[in-house]
Amino acid sequence: MKAFDPKDLKASNLHPYNWGETMLTDWTVRHTERFGEETVTFGHDLTRSGLFTDEALIELMKKHPIDQMDVCSMTDEPDPRFPNQFLTGDFRGVPMETVMAAAKAGRVFVNLRKAMNIHPEYRVLLDQMFGELAEQTGFDGSQAKGGILISSPISQTPYHFDKTETILWHIRGEKRIYIYPMTQEFIADEDYEAVAVSYRIDDLPYDARFDEAATAYDLQPGQAIAWPLNAPHRVDNSSFCVSVTTEYATRAASIKNNAMIANAAIRGKFGMKPGYQYDGTVKRFAKAGLGVALRKMGYMERKDSPDLVSFKIDPEVSGYVVPTEPFVRNF
Ligand SMILES: [Fe+2]
Repeated sequence: MKAFDPKDLKASNLHPYNWGETMLTDWTVRHTERFGEETVTFGHDLTRSGLFTDEALIELMKKHPIDQMDVCSMTDEPDPRFPNQFLTGDFRGVPMETVMAAAKAGRVFVNLRKAMNIHPEYRVLLDQMFGELAEQTGFDGSQAKGGILISSPISQTPYHFDKTETILWHIRGEKRIYIYPMTQEFIADEDYEAVAVSYRIDDLPYDARFDEAATAYDLQPGQAIAWPLNAPHRVDNSSFCVSVTTEYATRAASIKNNAMIANAAIRGKFGMKPGYQYDGTVKRFAKAGLGVALRKMGYMERKDSPDLVSFKIDPEVSGYVVPTEPFVRNF
């Protein structure tokens, strides 16, 4: 089979994206100056592709690999420090039209992991997004991963931080994102370390009083937001929403994450109280090396809890969510 070439789509007009236009619609020098340092919002033109309508997304879900797709809901009995914890759902055998209806009507959201990388017509967009960002900011986002989030009006993403650089490209609906300061009060090293040694968990302990210090952004369709690496954030939907989330690892992020693994070991095994902020560059590099070594040696135990499936999608039930006897996800 011939390898995929974006030019083929362009030539054959299979792809509705207008190649004469730019993806970033309102980028200025000010954006370039602030990108990566502060929270920035900017316009994008993903809607123009026609790939985020209900029909297009249903077709996408039908062909997306099942092991790269999550259908999630939220718990009815939240832990106050970790509210809005996700539940994993079983959607096997459910028509994707029904999954879409559930995302519109229920307490459900759908995450199509790496959809922007896996499917050629979406990959074209991802390359355009990061090609233009690279032109404007000089950073290399060629390894960026992009997922598509389809979420219900009452979906909430809990207070957390990301270990990699993240951008939220909002496409349909309205959502509010809260971004919090990067101090120990909001993201303590101990909590960062706990996330650094986990592959699945990225939630941070939350306190409603944190909101007083947060900056809230009401995202409109066609607006993207990028924030400084590791800034804690949470998201509330106010309508059915479709967004693309992208992430990419940078050298700075990798050094910090590995150093945090080392600090987790130092804290856990030797009872010391390391603080990333007090380490200079040399110490951070040394710790990053130690973190890499620890990982390779399998020294850090995996603290992941298994991914438990606890509900299934049922079109016969109002809200579409039916609890099931929990089982470890096997699909
Ligand atoms: Fe995030």
